[in-house]
Amino acid sequence: MKSQEVRQKFIEFFQQKDHEFAAPSPVVPQNDPSLLFTNAGMNQFKDVFLGAGTRPYTRAVNSQVCIRVSGKHNDLEDVGLDTTHHTLFEMLGNWSFGDYYKREAIQWAWELFTQVYGLPKAALYATIYETDDESGELWKKITDINPAHILKFGNKDNFWEMAQTGPCGPCSEIHLDRGADHCDKKETPHTCSVNGICARYIELWNLVFIQYERQEDGSLLDLPQKHVDTGAGLERIVAYLQHTASNYETDLFEPIIKKIETLTGIPYSDGIQGMPHRVIADHIRTLTFGIADNILPSNDGRGYVLRRILRRGLRYAQKLNITQPILYKLVGSVIDAMGSYYDYLPKRKDFIENVIKSEEEGFLKTLTSGVLHFQNVVDSLVNNSDTIPGKEAFKLYDTFGFPIDLTELMARERGLKVDLAGFRTELNAQRAQSRNHIKLHNCDAKDVPIGGEARIVTHDEDRLKMARHHTGTHLLQAALRQILGEHVYQSGSLVDVARLRFDFSHFKSLSPEQLTEIESLVNAKIEDNIAVTAAQMPLDDAKKKGAMALFGEKYDDVVRVIQIGDFSMELCGGTHVPSTAAIEKFRIISESAIAAGTRRIEALCGEETISHYQEAERQKHLALFNQKLKTVKALNQENTTLGGTPVSLADFDKADTLTSEDIITLTETLLSRIKQQEKQIADKKNHSAADTVRDLIGKATPIGNHKLLIHSFDQYDMGMLRTLSDHMISSDPSLVLVLGSVKDDQALFLARLKKPDLPAADIIKELTGIAGGKGGGRADMAQAGGADPSKLDTALRHIDSVLSSRLS
Ligand code: SER
Repeated sequence: MKSQEVRQKFIEFFQQKDHEFAAPSPVVPQNDPSLLFTNAGMNQFKDVFLGAGTRPYTRAVNSQVCIRVSGKHNDLEDVGLDTTHHTLFEMLGNWSFGDYYKREAIQWAWELFTQVYGLPKAALYATIYETDDESGELWKKITDINPAHILKFGNKDNFWEMAQTGPCGPCSEIHLDRGADHCDKKETPHTCSVNGICARYIELWNLVFIQYERQEDGSLLDLPQKHVDTGAGLERIVAYLQHTASNYETDLFEPIIKKIETLTGIPYSDGIQGMPHRVIADHIRTLTFGIADNILPSNDGRGYVLRRILRRGLRYAQKLNITQPILYKLVGSVIDAMGSYYDYLPKRKDFIENVIKSEEEGFLKTLTSGVLHFQNVVDSLVNNSDTIPGKEAFKLYDTFGFPIDLTELMARERGLKVDLAGFRTELNAQRAQSRNHIKLHNCDAKDVPIGGEARIVTHDEDRLKMARHHTGTHLLQAALRQILGEHVYQSGSLVDVARLRFDFSHFKSLSPEQLTEIESLVNAKIEDNIAVTAAQMPLDDAKKKGAMALFGEKYDDVVRVIQIGDFSMELCGGTHVPSTAAIEKFRIISESAIAAGTRRIEALCGEETISHYQEAERQKHLALFNQKLKTVKALNQENTTLGGTPVSLADFDKADTLTSEDIITLTETLLSRIKQQEKQIADKKNHSAADTVRDLIGKATPIGNHKLLIHSFDQYDMGMLRTLSDHMISSDPSLVLVLGSVKDDQALFLARLKKPDLPAADIIKELTGIAGGKGGGRADMAQAGGADPSKLDTALRHIDSVLSSRLS
């Protein structure tokens, strides 16, 4: 049964029982500060449950996407590790608002599951709240469930609450026994059970009997009416009905998983190796639905949850060797799987893709160096410490953009912990510092003169940063037109807290001199502290005055014009600083082509943003430097072991305190030292190989025209034995060589000689006759492996006597 049909059958079943189809709500709850995301189908009816609102119907049904990544219901950590939890899942639900209660809820759930979906009765279990005997009796009386499958549980499992406060009540859940094969904890002694530790039994449907409101103080208030709130996991039901090994092979996920396989070239597996595929497929659904509802990745609230999820997704993409934006390419597959029911998704495809791509590009700039830095931190943990220090977790967060849960995840992968308290101390210290900084640059200015429009900059740190970048963009456009010419027109622009990006028409790359000139002109305008004013005026007047407008953009009759002295005038509805000095400083960080005739400049505004960026760059260089330093140290050690002279590391002590430029220079020096070291080591190795060959030949016993050498080594593999024999035979072709080695738990033999009447393969046969193992080869060279190490010496002694007599 296709997922679409499963969903449809659910809805139709309850419509036939007089339920109204209630359109699913957005993933951002409306007017409910107790929730970050819609976490259950009942959220939109909270007011009805609490007696504060009504609907024109008393029974409702739908399917609702729910996000569970924060607050009371958070499944993030389980995603990908198991195959049944998701950050976003679809909940089939039916509701009664003071209408029917336990009896109908139980009866219809049983009927739908066993008769419509045909789930096997013998595999179904019903759980009830420990004191809810009424539900227990109903299960026995009105269904034909096996009475031994009715089980009681306490608050943790059978008392459902929406959030810290709000509607709640005892619940009765239906669980499915998927069979012993689904137990994923076989190595842990346990008995598989409902609500147990393994994946054999899973919850499919939760029937909540809402009768209380949880108060702030923790107490329960009786509600005026009793309600039913049910939720069934669509993905899990579909997995069962489609006979798939897990949710990820159902038609709800398959298009996404397939696309990941195509893009990465790495096939999906349902074991632990498939975790990156699963995490990415899960996360892209949340990103798609979140952004479709206008949540944009940002530094706080819902936006930060999306940012964390996206960055987590990219970290897993990196595990599939992907270092370019990839997540945005999966949006189409999410829409293929779910766009027919959630029909607003296809219309928002381009928007969702653009938002994700630009966010991916931003993070990928620091991901690789962040991972490198993380590795350096791990390598430098002292005294067997198993904890990433708070300072380092903060540096990863602040400089490399690693959300704390990403750092925790990477730490967990290595069996380490993160000092979260230390991290928070650092974070709070930084917040306090930036609050002071904002006070110093308080831009909560008085209204400015033209049109009396209040400037919109507030104490909010992020808004100030945005405003700086926005006004900076206007200054940049004016400077570009002044220096490059009037043909410069905006073709795209992104104003962010962290940077600005401006795309414009121009035919060739800008020279370093032009870039410096543009930067200086913008900085001069900042120093001039020109007032930034806003005025409403008719569109025609604005055009007459020469205000810059966007090509092809439709404007209202009355428009807002932002003017910066006589330097810049643009139609714009955005947030700006009151006067240019609030921008503090402007710095171009890149210039590139994005299409024929279109260039892109990325720039930063604000002392703090710029120094933050410089520090991040410095840290990237430092991470690379430290990695190279480690290589040199390892080479030094190897060289010393070989009797060579290590290179001095004295100049490299203080890299931590140096500027980016100095670190780059030092890294270059290190690279040349690495080359030197590698050459020395290679020379030494060649030299010592030559010594070994000479020594061994010296040990050979001359017999007739031949020299017999029988020798055994420790831990030489077959490749090493062969290379050695190549050197020996080429320096003395009269050698008859029989070499043995114990490598790990087996013995190897190699025979080599130039004597047609004494084939090497025969020698090997003699050896394996005694020591076991398998082998063979040609007349002049043969080999064997898998022999018994304890028989090696006996076998070699035997062949010594055989050959001594055959050669003489
Ligand atoms: N609100 C309940 C749950 O989320 C039933 O839908 O489990």
